[in-house]
Amino acid sequence: MKVLLTGGAGYIGNYVVEEVLDNGHEVRVLDSMLWGDNALESLRKNERLEVRKGDIRHIEDLSYAVEGCDAVIHLAGIVGDPACGVNEQATQAVNVEATKSLVEVCKLHDIQRLVFASTCSVYGASQLMELNEGSYLNPLSLYAESKIDSEEIILHETHDMFSDNEITPTILRLGTIFGWSRRMRFDLVVNILTAKAVLEGDIPVFGGEQYRPLVHVHDAARAFAAVLEADTEKVAHQTFNVGDNDLNYQIKKVGQIVEDNVDGAEVRFVEHKEDERTYRVSFDKINHILGWEAKHDIADGVQEIKEWMEEENITNYEKDNFRNSEYPYM
Ligand SMILES: NC(=O)c1ccc[n+]([C@@H]2O[C@H](COP(=O)([O-])OP(=O)(O)OC[C@H]3O[C@@H](n4cnc5c(N)ncnc54)[C@H](O)[C@@H]3O)[C@@H](O)[C@H]2O)c1
Repeated sequence: MKVLLTGGAGYIGNYVVEEVLDNGHEVRVLDSMLWGDNALESLRKNERLEVRKGDIRHIEDLSYAVEGCDAVIHLAGIVGDPACGVNEQATQAVNVEATKSLVEVCKLHDIQRLVFASTCSVYGASQLMELNEGSYLNPLSLYAESKIDSEEIILHETHDMFSDNEITPTILRLGTIFGWSRRMRFDLVVNILTAKAVLEGDIPVFGGEQYRPLVHVHDAARAFAAVLEADTEKVAHQTFNVGDNDLNYQIKKVGQIVEDNVDGAEVRFVEHKEDERTYRVSFDKINHILGWEAKHDIADGVQEIKEWMEEENITNYEKDNFRNSEYPYM
């Protein structure tokens, strides 16, 4: 297959590129390179990889990128609650309207598979013991709302009555990602607590009672590759949560794991109005249907980030490139 990957230069995207290349496919990346293109540097020597700088809001960029492809993995977007809150119009344009355009372009080009990166934060807050793909959605942010809108567009607007081609759409709702990436993000809970532990010996845990489903960046990337390889009947019009039942952690437990893995660092509990988002998620469906399971736990992520920071002498985790909160609007 020839696979278009939007957002392929991002935190998760560069590993999806690697996984899909490793499975023998050709990959074309379309990315506006908001955070640079360093994440793809080590992969560029692969002749099956083509990298294009472009914007998913621009129909020409989308059309040229989709041309000649068989499948699309759509990861590009404004990512996270703070970044989406900065400019609501831009969030709507990038996270929702561009999805509509992408679907139309996919129909014109007879794309067979379309896989979309959504998020478990569509579940918002819930006191249920475990949420699954059929659970009530309770988005608590514009980011989560924009993902639900895109899910609906992808699941319901991919059918084209004028064409024999049927796009197979699949939604992946990822847990909160952790771990080292060639495009590093320190605005994610495990990553920031690790950075603070390494540099300041301090692990500030705000509240701590809230649950989050966590998943390692390599595991998340493998899930996209697994969907591409799966039989159509297993993934067509399906939504899968991506994570591991054993990685539903309270934030205070995450702090403790970081403490256990960074010598001399200590958890400090900070009184805090609880972050409203709290949810535990079931990952049985992806496990039962695709046989997919997570291979990494939180300690793996903490260790690799710690080693990288020490080797590269990273002393500033607040650098613009390390977080998404200041989306550079164009
Ligand atoms: N990181 C997480 O914890 C997490 C959790 C759930 C879902 N997701 C989803 O996974 C996807 C990737 O997230 P990430 O963590 O790799 O974020 P990221 O910000 O590192 O990657 C997003 C990529 O999209 C590109 N991009 C942004 N706007 C664009 C535009 N208008 N045109 C073309 N490219 C554009 C950026 O340059 C960047 O390379 C996103 O859709 C995100 O919502 C991420």
